[in-house]
Formats: sequence, structure tokens, C-alpha cells
Amino acid sequence: MNSFAKAQALRASKGHRRISALTAYDYPSARLLDEAGIDLLLVGDSLGMVVLGFPDTTHVTLEHMLHHTAAVARAQPRALVLGDMPIHTYNTPAQAIASAQALIKAGADAVKLEGGSEHAATIRAITTAGIPVIGHIGMLPQHVIEEGGYHKKGKTPAALQQLLIDAEALTEAGVCAIVMESIIPSSATAITKSVPVPTIGIGCGETTCDGEVAVITDLLGSYPWFVPPFAKPEAQLAPQIIAAARAYHHRVITTKM
Ligand code: KIV
Repeated sequence: MNSFAKAQALRASKGHRRISALTAYDYPSARLLDEAGIDLLLVGDSLGMVVLGFPDTTHVTLEHMLHHTAAVARAQPRALVLGDMPIHTYNTPAQAIASAQALIKAGADAVKLEGGSEHAATIRAITTAGIPVIGHIGMLPQHVIEEGGYHKKGKTPAALQQLLIDAEALTEAGVCAIVMESIIPSSATAITKSVPVPTIGIGCGETTCDGEVAVITDLLGSYPWFVPPFAKPEAQLAPQIIAAARAYHHRVITTKM
């Protein structure tokens, strides 16, 4: 399926089938997650923390994203590959189109950017250039410094109203889905009901969105230094990696030459 068909199928899934999405940052994980049947592989700028060791996503550059998007795309996944647009790469519509085109050239099927109505014109410019876009509202990690941390969103009627306005603006700008992050469950449900495109939640509750996205290291328990409260690990790889490395170390140093 080509990128456009994958994006159309994603949009059309609303009301029929929930969407499973995971972050992927490299070739082997993309191959394994695709084999598992995951619908969408997000090359998220969360790689800034869980792969590159930065304190937050504000250090991620377009070059980082192109490098990792290309690695994921080399797996030739059946899943839709979504390339995250890092901070300061979509400050103007022209810059956004150039950044999005670079991600598509690296192998993404679609791009994602953070923000609401204030970015509607930029999103419209990208979709008009023929590139599928997924929006991202609620907690916006690229704003974590101004916001002083990761806080829940949509907690008041006014906050919900703004999120509804944002979701509608993104839909009118042509997004094929909307990622919603850390929005309280009642507000996430209201937004999901209000838009014709699928919502993909993280930290919004399990039954509030048309799909879910998780950061792969949270699912695998392979990044123990920061685990978000909403993470639901299905494995604990960190102790297994340490144990395997210890066993190897012991074997190497005790082997007689
Ligand atoms: O970069 C990322 O992993 C994301 C998810 C938190 C949705 O944007």
C-alpha cells in the first residue's frame, strides 16, 4: 500500500477498528513491531530522551529525525510510518513543507506536528502539498520547559472548549488522525466523539480514544529511569539486559586463555 492509501485507511478506520501505535526508532524494532501487527510506527521525537539521552524533546533536530526515520523505513513495514516534526522545524508554512518533504524522502508515510488551531494554516499547507498529516493536541512535550513539566490537559470546561476548537481546526486543515496526550478521560471522550477522524491517545485513559500509542521503552520496560504514571509495561527488559551483560562479562573474564 502506498503512503496515501495507508493514511486514507487509517482515517477510514474510525468507528470500525481501534488503532494500535508504538514508537519505533530503528530497523530491528520496526521489523519486530511490524511482524506483531502494529498499525502505526511513530518515529517520535521522544527518541531525544529514550535513545539519545537528552532531558526532553526540545534538543531533537530534523537531522536526528531523518536518520531514525530512514532506519525504520528500511524495514519496509506494512504499518504506516509516522515521522515526528521536531521543534523549530515548522515555524512557517514554507519551512514546514520543506521539513515534511525531507521526512517523506527519508521514508515516512505521514508527518506529525504538535499544536492546535494556531498551526491550522501550516497543516493545510503540508496537506495541500500532498503529505498526510497527523495532529497532536493536549500535553505538548515540545512545550515542557515553558509549562514547567508534564501536566494533564482539558481539566476545565474552558480548557475542553479550546481543545474541541483545536481538534475541529486540525480536522478542517486535513489531518487524517489526531494524537491526544494526557487529556483527562471525560474530555478525551468528548473530543473523540466530536471529530470525524480517529483520535489516538496516550495518557488519556484506555477507553476514550479510537486508538492508543505508547512509547516502546515504556511497553518493554527498557528505560527504567523515567516511567510515566500511565505506562503499562508488558515486559521488564532492563533487568534482563543487565543480567545478560553480567553473565557475558563473567564468562569473558573467567575464561582461561
Ligand atoms: O514522540 C513521541 O513519542 C510522541 C508520543 C508521546 C505520542 O509524540
